[in-house]
Amino acid sequence: MSKSKSSTPATDAAGLRKGLTSYGDNGFSLFLRKAFIKGAGYSDSALDRPVIGIANTGSAYNPCHGNAPQLMEAVKRGIMLAGGLPMDFPTISIHESFAYPTSMYLRNLMSMDTEEMIRAQPMDAVVLIGGCDKTVPAQLMGAASAGIPAIQLITGSMLTGSHRSERVGACTDCRRYWGKYRAEEIDDQEIADVNNQLVASVGTCSVMGTASTMACIAEALGMTVPGGATPPAVTADRMRIAELTGAQAVSLARSGLTIDKILTADALENAMRVLLAIGGSTNGIVHLAAIAGRLGIDIDLKALDRMGRETPVLLDLKPSGQHYMEDFHKAGGMATLLRELKPLLKLNALTVTGRSLGEEIDLAGPGFGQDVVRPVADPIYPQGGIAVLEGNLAPGGAIIKQSSADPGLMEHEGRAVVFENAADLANRIDADDLDVNADDILVLKNIGPKGAPGMPEAGYIPIPKKLAIKGVKDIVRISDGRMSGTAFGTIVLHVTPESAIGGPLAYVRNGDRIRLSVKNREISLLVAESEMARRHAAMPIVPPTAERGYKKLFLQSVTQADKGVDFDFLRAPEANGKTSG
Ligand code: FES
Repeated sequence: MSKSKSSTPATDAAGLRKGLTSYGDNGFSLFLRKAFIKGAGYSDSALDRPVIGIANTGSAYNPCHGNAPQLMEAVKRGIMLAGGLPMDFPTISIHESFAYPTSMYLRNLMSMDTEEMIRAQPMDAVVLIGGCDKTVPAQLMGAASAGIPAIQLITGSMLTGSHRSERVGACTDCRRYWGKYRAEEIDDQEIADVNNQLVASVGTCSVMGTASTMACIAEALGMTVPGGATPPAVTADRMRIAELTGAQAVSLARSGLTIDKILTADALENAMRVLLAIGGSTNGIVHLAAIAGRLGIDIDLKALDRMGRETPVLLDLKPSGQHYMEDFHKAGGMATLLRELKPLLKLNALTVTGRSLGEEIDLAGPGFGQDVVRPVADPIYPQGGIAVLEGNLAPGGAIIKQSSADPGLMEHEGRAVVFENAADLANRIDADDLDVNADDILVLKNIGPKGAPGMPEAGYIPIPKKLAIKGVKDIVRISDGRMSGTAFGTIVLHVTPESAIGGPLAYVRNGDRIRLSVKNREISLLVAESEMARRHAAMPIVPPTAERGYKKLFLQSVTQADKGVDFDFLRAPEANGKTSG
């Protein structure tokens, strides 16, 4: 046993001596802690090493993290090879399809779990194993608040499958085939067949959905080892990244490079550039706002839009393009993209390696011929994937993923067809007597942060069946909700303030005229101010509340989309600048 009778204050201590449980006697606290851990067979020499926590999010309910056991083994190997002591611990794990009412409702809970477990347990650095959409943002938010050295390990994308000789992958193809089924283009047998092929292995969605977006963002932020974003989940490359991550975590523990030195305004700007250049998920901006808020940094939507005008989409991945994540990996992964974007990046931003992003780009070498990342001179789309809209329908802003919208609908005026909430939508969208035409604008209310609650991905309003059968593939849609990063269409999202707290969206009626102009960044309700005032007076809005539990906390504390849908009390108390673009 250690000779130490340490009365060292817990805050200055390292390894097992950190964060001692309060018994009023630190020496006794350490003595007791060691007695218990020795019950698991650890030796004194093991316990004297830097302790590396590993947030293990493996769960039978989360196939996107189905490789967690193999990753854990590789991370532990890396930690031990570098002289550290790995200590894994469980946290909440969230999968998109297994989270009721919606995964976003639980993201903040996972971030609180992650933060408090990092704080509560002794560790000198932490490895965060995340992958499915909400897990990486939740972990980065929690780690940012906990403030210790941290490194992200992505679980990696799933492999693509094959349906009747056509390559398929979740979840853009899930939506495409479901659209065909709704339009009665394919039968029950074919939709059952394709269901077997869409997810060909464990791992995260294989297109540029939110999971892939957050993986690329994590690397752009400097929070993964170089090359950490793209190896598929079941590959040897992914396991080597895991081993390297473990080893790098020990270096972080020794150098004391805390997460706030990496997640700076410059790093966040790099992440915004990458979000735009990959045609990334609209959810990425919400998560970035939440992560930044934990460090007192404001994400400026106007800056995002300015950046978007000078940042082309370069990555040819579905849903904006044609390839899948495994192709991006074979094309060199993020190094290939960052090399192209280099003139637009803040190259001095520090990464978990202790080197700057610019140094890492140079170390990655000159690259090679490939057709997944386009050169700046020949982009997939001339501007960034996301445009920020303003107007009297969204005084706090709204966004549209212009790179996956129908160019013919981006300058459009139409008649509103209104659904009051998600249940109303489900009840009426396929009704034969729904009064709707292809040039109308579908409006869905009450799916914002407080409205649903949890801002579900219901903004991808399906094409009404009577139009789908006629071959209509896109229609302008507007809501205060989100949509999956794997979805596509002319869809205005994140309308702020949301309808459930009395935003203008709440007062839109059937037949109102709405104007969308992506060129002018405008979303306007063409109703006279006097009429809007009359509607306000006739229908005052009372925001939703709950009696107990997490729902009560959520409804009391959740912020709007522009603040990341985080809880107001979890943001850093002091302002620490904003992204300028
Ligand atoms: Fe987990 Fe798509 S459902 S990444």
